[in-house]
Amino acid sequence: MLNALETGKRNLICSNKQIIIQPTTAILRPFTFVKSDLSQNKRFSALLNNQLNIYNLNFKIMARESVKILQGKLDVESLISQLNAALAEEWLAYYQYWVGALVVEGAMRADVQSEFEEHVEEERKHAQLLANRIIELEGVPVLDPKKWFELARCKYDAPQEFDSISLLKDNVASERCAILRYQEIADFTNGKDFTTCDIAKHILAEEEEHEQDLQDYLTDIARMKKSFLEK
Ligand SMILES: [Fe+2]
Ligand SMILES: [Fe+2]
Repeated sequence: MLNALETGKRNLICSNKQIIIQPTTAILRPFTFVKSDLSQNKRFSALLNNQLNIYNLNFKIMARESVKILQGKLDVESLISQLNAALAEEWLAYYQYWVGALVVEGAMRADVQSEFEEHVEEERKHAQLLANRIIELEGVPVLDPKKWFELARCKYDAPQEFDSISLLKDNVASERCAILRYQEIADFTNGKDFTTCDIAKHILAEEEEHEQDLQDYLTDIARMKKSFLEK
């Protein structure tokens, strides 16, 4: 219950005698406890020892208010859906780079492998940013990996060729798809949800950088081939 409260995903209904913790998702059941039992009940003594006091409860109510404010400005449910689609795409991008780094061969193999490994970590960080924001918005990050393919617009296609040029081109296509995704989220939240907009712009800048990194390798490999053939 402590973890559940700390995620800030609950509605708290407080009266003089009792507090009802009402989950906003189907994965947890409502829970009611009587305030006078707080000092006697071991479970809630533990909560109190973990600084879950009235100040914390009020803080959670304030967090809920911030979502209410957003609801007056944009469709929060739609935003959560877009963020979950982006989250699914990030995990697929993560896997695509991870697999690519494992199997890549051919021109500039070691350099391309290092680049892919760098991107793996950055895609994971993007996933973390999105999941954190979904929770702040009182949504649930996509829980089942099987849903990734259903939600993602930027698909993962298993590599057919392991040469560096093919893998670089596959990832360029994925980065372009990701760029469109974050442009859309930034447009949707612009001037309304400053926090999500900042996150979208931050990730967008990194996806643009990823695309540029990959294009640079493709250009370098093409130049190397050309100069080799001219000799
Ligand atoms: Fe990403
Ligand atoms: Fe990327």
